[in-house]
Amino acid sequence: MTQHVELADHGEHMISDLQALATMVDDSAPGWSRVALSELDVTGRHWVLRQMIEAGLDARIDEAGNVLGLLKGDRPGAGTIMTGSHTDTVPGGGRFDGNVGVTAALEVVRTLRASGTRLAQDLLVVDFFNEEPNRFGISCVGSRALTGTLSAAHLNAQDAAGTRFGDALLEARIDPSQVGRAVKDFTGVIAFVELHIEQGPHLEEQGNRIGLVTSITGISRFRGIFHGRRDHAGTTPMNRRHDAGCAAAGTVLAVESIASDRQTSRGTTGSVTFTPDAVNVVSERAEVRGEFRSPDAQWLTQAREKLLTAASQHGEQRDVTLELEWLPGEEPVAMSDPLLNTASRVVSDMGLSHTRMYSGAEHDASQMARQVPTAMIFVPSRDGRSHCPEEFTETADILAGAEVLLNTIIRISTQHSSM
Ligand code: HGY
Ligand code: MN
Ligand code: MN
Repeated sequence: MTQHVELADHGEHMISDLQALATMVDDSAPGWSRVALSELDVTGRHWVLRQMIEAGLDARIDEAGNVLGLLKGDRPGAGTIMTGSHTDTVPGGGRFDGNVGVTAALEVVRTLRASGTRLAQDLLVVDFFNEEPNRFGISCVGSRALTGTLSAAHLNAQDAAGTRFGDALLEARIDPSQVGRAVKDFTGVIAFVELHIEQGPHLEEQGNRIGLVTSITGISRFRGIFHGRRDHAGTTPMNRRHDAGCAAAGTVLAVESIASDRQTSRGTTGSVTFTPDAVNVVSERAEVRGEFRSPDAQWLTQAREKLLTAASQHGEQRDVTLELEWLPGEEPVAMSDPLLNTASRVVSDMGLSHTRMYSGAEHDASQMARQVPTAMIFVPSRDGRSHCPEEFTETADILAGAEVLLNTIIRISTQHSSM
């Protein structure tokens, strides 16, 4: 009979941790905002550091802002199992995205210790720095830094004010010249497991309690700048304008139409800025930032080509010039089949209804999966809502997910110890 461990104190500590994190937010914004590079994000990660220390971990913040906590295993040389997620949020987001995975990882540690369950392997808990795309359009910063893929192209990305991301790291008390030192040696790391909310409607619609992720989406993000001419809105005839705003508007619609050709493809222009942003002035400059997502790398390549053609045409029609830049992209990535099977057995033994599913959301697991066998466990999101204040997951589902995480880690450990 395989050992099953229940959460210590029915997971009460985890739920109070989630509530505590929900108080460290920007009160002037809707929902729960703790955006990376903000003071609140620094506060949040230092709070996580203290929780890790209190839970008995040997914890520190690394050169890239990741909070790392180590629980030593019983057998030197047996390797390492990793778990965690992120605590930064999108502006005006919810209080579960990422936070569930970090607080569950803490709960796993507390439960292992309280129940006297010893792992042969080290357990390394992570609160990854800056998972959500920041104002430079760069996401998964901490997990990229840890896995050695945070590149000069990422650090050179600019925000609307022309500031380099590398320079802005100082806002998060991160020394840009030291970020490269955060790269981890993954020798001996046998698994990374992340618990997360689904952020979509499928689990709830199907009546499933748990989702086991098979693969995570690929992403292509762009920044397009149109340069036109500033003119009077009342006196400049329509055929004499070089309206950068109209070229940008055509591009926004092109993103929608390109991404509407398949059920699994997505296209979003989440940010548009007109200059001078005045109701009676033809726009001289317009900046659009957006992304395509798909499980199919080839589709992403085609979408990029189609967008360049469409945006160029919208510019040319108005004699407006275009600079289109693609930020370093993400290939779709598969999760580990053996880990998925292990998690699947845990969920079945717990009698929880479950399904295997694709993730259209990006996660730190996307980066980790390129280095180590990786699995993701999803719990349902009410009405499929996320990245908004309405984001909600039932406490019972959060705790069920945390218990699946705990027992998946225990089983991975046992399987590797008997090898
Ligand atoms: O944008 C995403 O997919 C994720 O929620 N960071
Ligand atoms: Mn998110
Ligand atoms: Mn997330």
